Amino acid sequence: MKISVCGKGGSGKSTVVTLLANEALKRGYQVIVVDSDESNTGLFRMLDFDRPPVPLMELVGGKKGLKQKMAQTNVLSEPQLKISQIPQEHLLQRDGLMLVSIGKILQSLEGCACPMGVLSREFLKKLVLQENELVIVDMEAGVEHFGRGVDTSIDSVLIVVEPPLESVNVGQKIHELASGMGIKNVWAVLNKVPSEEIAAGLKTELQERNIEVVGCIYLDNDIFASSLDGKIPVNGIAVQEIKEVMDSILSGTGMPTPR
Ligand SMILES: Nc1ncnc2c1ncn2[C@@H]1O[C@H](COP(=O)(O)OP(=O)(O)OP(=O)(O)O)[C@@H](O)[C@H]1O
Ligand SMILES: [Mg+2]
Repeated sequence: MKISVCGKGGSGKSTVVTLLANEALKRGYQVIVVDSDESNTGLFRMLDFDRPPVPLMELVGGKKGLKQKMAQTNVLSEPQLKISQIPQEHLLQRDGLMLVSIGKILQSLEGCACPMGVLSREFLKKLVLQENELVIVDMEAGVEHFGRGVDTSIDSVLIVVEPPLESVNVGQKIHELASGMGIKNVWAVLNKVPSEEIAAGLKTELQERNIEVVGCIYLDNDIFASSLDGKIPVNGIAVQEIKEVMDSILSGTGMPTPR
């Protein structure tokens, strides 16, 4: 399964990616998190690594003439790529968890992020998975990645929606774009919900837009407080709440339990 976690900026995508990754690890999956956000740099910390991986953009040799350079880069020139073929410095690993980063915008006037989109799309397309391997993509905020075709090889999209209406509206657009390109599974998870009443209201808003809701993560002071250190608590309430989300995702995709 290749699942991308999408949503409006700041809705909680990276938090949900981390919670999902940790839950999938507990269930025995090999988890490959793909950092496809060209702006934020702290995902490695949330996932409890002590440094970020060297971005794949550096493996290719930079953004200029990307397609040509990709064709000349051994591991990326083939139509298929196994996890084991990714060079070590570009693939951080601990206890069945792996982290790959596409690339970051580092300097002013370096040009737009479109090449990151191309690399992300091609990398995800080429990546072939074993039965027990699961890819979770931390997508850039908003909807531009659909325009760039980053989601072409994605089979499931999880939209993170928080209470502001604007977050619901971006969620609706993501749902439309993902469904429109034939992605089979498109769900929403509610996040930063302050009360049961608001959870019910938010759920209704989404259901009226024909968006299936697979769970709810309540507003959690500990998550917010830990974010000052760039971390996520490993045993808070959200760790329980994400289990329901994972159950729905796994049953929706029919992904087998690891042996
Ligand atoms: N359930 C929650 N309860 C409290 N705070 C939360 C919750 N989920 C996320 N947050 C906080 O919201 C902020 C944004 O979260 P996060 O970085 O995961 O969002 P994001 O969608 O990945 O943002 P970006 O669009 O910048 O990548 C962080 O400070 C995080 O700790
Ligand atoms: Mg993020």
